[in-house]
Parts: sequence; structure tokens; C-alpha cells
Amino acid sequence: MQLMLCLVLFGLFCVTTCEEEFLPSYITPCKLEDKELADCVREQIKISLPHFTKGVPEFNVPSIDPVKLDDIKIDGNGLVLTFTQAAMHGLSKSELTDLRVKIGDSDEDFKLAFKGNLSLTAKYEVDGRILILPIQGKGDAFVYAQGVEVEINSKLSHVKDKQNRTHFKLITPSYNYTIERTTFDLKNLFNGNKQLADTTIQFANENWRQLMDDLAPPAIKQIVRTCVKAINKFFSNVTIARMVKGYKDH
Ligand SMILES: *[C@@H]1O[C@H](CO)[C@@H](O)[C@H](O)[C@H]1NC(C)=O
Ligand SMILES: *[C@@H]1O[C@H](CO)[C@@H](O)[C@H](O)[C@H]1NC(C)=O
Ligand SMILES: *[C@@H]1O[C@H](CO)[C@@H](O)[C@H](O)[C@H]1NC(C)=O
Ligand SMILES: *[C@@H]1O[C@H](CO)[C@@H](O)[C@H](O)[C@H]1NC(C)=O
Repeated sequence: MQLMLCLVLFGLFCVTTCEEEFLPSYITPCKLEDKELADCVREQIKISLPHFTKGVPEFNVPSIDPVKLDDIKIDGNGLVLTFTQAAMHGLSKSELTDLRVKIGDSDEDFKLAFKGNLSLTAKYEVDGRILILPIQGKGDAFVYAQGVEVEINSKLSHVKDKQNRTHFKLITPSYNYTIERTTFDLKNLFNGNKQLADTTIQFANENWRQLMDDLAPPAIKQIVRTCVKAINKFFSNVTIARMVKGYKDH
């Protein structure tokens, strides 16, 4: 999704001098002078969204849905919980909530916020307690995080490629996020003892915030890293001059 934003965004500045192959056919460039520029951008983004699920091979951009996550291990407060083979689904269906790019000034900034419902699939292994209740098991995990909003802020730096052409690069990105609600579904808790499992799952869901305090930071960090990497992949493949008409190299 993020990549598409870049495309659309820079598509805006790309009027006649840009090479025609630059924009995917489903994007109609907006004109810089358009009064309804913001609406136009949003419209283009909506149209483009489904196309970007699988990445943009023309620009070397990998798919961001699902995002494969490194193993996550929580160890504290009497609880040891690990997620392996974890993948986050749903990024491509997220909605854009904010997008700002400041270019051409001495301070070039990039801001992107999106909100969506994300689901994590993984193999889990857990032993210990959630607050007061014992929890133990191993199996398939499904974590549904509803209303996840992530905001990424970054400086836009300029880097030269081997041919001495200039590209954008996001550097030192920072981010923050909020989550509205989380539901856990851990299969095979207590070796399949349903009664014990149901009680514990219900308790976990009522106290989701405590669990997510530990679980969300490593997961969100990896999502942001993946998004930033993908955006930079796109930037490294397309020169600034190709994206922004009349952009002055400095
Ligand atoms: C997330 O799920 C909620 C509840 O099911 C729904 O109202 C909302 O539209 C969903 N958001 C997105 C971005 O799909
Ligand atoms: C790269 O471009 C800059 C100006 O944009 C120029 O000063 C420099 O000499 C160039 N370097 C090479 C190796 O061509
Ligand atoms: C991130 O932090 C900014 C500044 O404090 C705040 O305005 C924004 O709502 C936060 N975004 C999220 C998604 O939490
Ligand atoms: C972008 O990627 C394509 C496909 O890998 C490659 O052919 C092209 O040379 C790349 N362009 C730049 C500017 O890196």
C-alpha cells in the first residue's frame, strides 16, 4: 500500500516530461495545478490499492502482504510465549489515514499513516501465567488486531547511485501506533482441554492490552521496517528526476 502511495504521489508531479513507462496503466496522473489535488490523490490511491498487494515487480518492490515476521519471544512477568513462522496479513487492505510529503525545501519530510485490521498467524508455544491464570500449550495461533493505526515519520535524504543519479531514501524513520482491540485464538491450549482453554482464552481477550504491551512492539517494529524497506526499494529503483517534474537536484 505504502508503495502505491509513493507512485501516485510522485505520479502527480509527473506530467508530460516523464517517461511514459513510469506510471502503471491504472494510475491517471493528477495535475499539480488541480484544485482538488488531494481528492484526486486519494481517488488514485483507492484505485491502485488492489494492484499493489503483490508488489511492483517493475520497480523491484516486493509484496507486503503478508509480511513474514521474525520469531517473537516474550519472557517476563511469569510468562514465556514464543511465536515462530509468523506472518502478518491485511496490510494491503489498510486504509490511508494520512500522507504528507514535503519536497523541494531544505527539510524534506515524509509522513504516512494507515489504519487497518491485521491478523497474525503463527506457531505458538506458551508456558506460565497471564496475570493470575495459568496458560500452557503449543499449536497454531491466530491474533486479530482490530483498528491498528500506524504513523511513520521520516526524513527524505538524497543518495547517489552508481551512475551518479539522485534517489530519495527514507532515513531514521520513527513511528507510533494505536490498537483498538485484539482477539487471541490459540489452538490446542492445555493439550486440547477445552474447558481450561476457553476460560484462559476468554481471560486473555479481556486483558488483551497487557498481552499486547509485550507482543505489539516487536511485531509493529517489523511491519514498519518492512514498509520502509519496500518504499526505499522503490526509491532506489526510480530516480527523483523521473518522479518529480522540475525537481531541482541539490
Ligand atoms: C475493521 O473491522 C471493523 C469491525 O469488523 C470494521 O468495522 C472496519 O471497517 C474494518 N476496517 C478495515 C480497514 O477493514
Ligand atoms: C556527480 O554529480 C555531481 C553534481 O550533481 C558532480 O559534481 C560530480 O562531479 C558527479 N560525479 C561523478 C563521478 O560524475
Ligand atoms: C502519533 O503521535 C502523534 C504525535 O504525538 C499523534 O498526533 C498521532 O495521533 C499518533 N498516531 C498514532 C497512530 O498513534
Ligand atoms: C529498476 O528495476 C528494474 C527491474 O529489476 C531494472 O531493470 C532497472 O534497471 C532498475 N532501475 C534502476 C534505476 O535501478
